[in-house]
Amino acid sequence: MTTQHDLFDPIEVGDYTFPNRIIMAPLTRNRAGEGNVPTEMNVSYYQQRAGAGMIITEATQISPQGVGYPATPGIHSDEQVAGWKRVTDAVHEKNGHIFLQLWHVGRISHPSLQPDGQLPVAPSAIKPEGETFTYEGLQEFVEPRALEKDELAGIIADYVNAARKAMQAGFEGVEIHAANGYLLDQFLRDGSNQREDEYGGSVDNRMRLLREVVEAVCAVIGNRKVGVRISPENSFNDMYDSDAQNTFNAVTEMLNGFNPAYLHVLEGDMGSDKRELDYAHI
Ligand SMILES: Cc1cc2nc3c(=O)[nH]c(=O)nc-3n(C[C@H](O)[C@H](O)[C@H](O)COP(=O)(O)O)c2cc1C
Repeated sequence: MTTQHDLFDPIEVGDYTFPNRIIMAPLTRNRAGEGNVPTEMNVSYYQQRAGAGMIITEATQISPQGVGYPATPGIHSDEQVAGWKRVTDAVHEKNGHIFLQLWHVGRISHPSLQPDGQLPVAPSAIKPEGETFTYEGLQEFVEPRALEKDELAGIIADYVNAARKAMQAGFEGVEIHAANGYLLDQFLRDGSNQREDEYGGSVDNRMRLLREVVEAVCAVIGNRKVGVRISPENSFNDMYDSDAQNTFNAVTEMLNGFNPAYLHVLEGDMGSDKRELDYAHI
């Protein structure tokens, strides 16, 4: 038997009870200021939306390497923490609740956005089809550099550092962005992950980085303050998996083992009507 809930009934999410079931989806706005610091425009934008049961912020880079677009905010410098603190204070002043979405774009970047003009990084050196937004306008994606295995501990540490800083900035929790063709999703799906080490090949190997990130973040801020977003059949950012049902059945089972605050699933394909998977099993 299912229970009917009104949109305006409270809902329990992890450690919290939110006053209604309206959740604002994460939306990139490209409105950060100098140093990728949230500005007054971000403060009023989020405060205006504080009546939602919960806001998930726009994707926010965990490190200078994690950036992929102009004017997106970060959560790795003290100035960014101070900027986000103004946002969370403004949301809390209106009795709102807000989670920060943690982001590393992986190959969906461009050397002109990367520190010292370096190549974007990815599980494998596979160039996505298409063009990306840069400060000089649309430019073709480049072939990324495949991450060395010994660099992955540093990326996990960046997620942990960013999650700690998010809590310092006053967020209720974080959402780990493992959707939409960014770094963690690039590891999950075999179209972008052709590694031959223990981070590629089998589904278990491909989800190893996500598992390690979730485990490390949960250990530091508590599993009931951590959500995860996935997008099993979204082709956005040139993504593909040869058996998405099998991959994401395993991913959700693995995530369930952490008893996170929530799982955020983007169903179907953002760019088409395609929706073929059995989400009941995901
Ligand atoms: C302008 C724009 C920015 C977006 N930014 C993000 C983002 O930062 N993080 C994210 O996970 N999804 C982002 N999305 C995806 C949305 O959260 C949402 O999933 C998508 O619009 C599809 O809507 P639906 O999930 O209700 O079908 C963005 C979408 C749009 C149109």
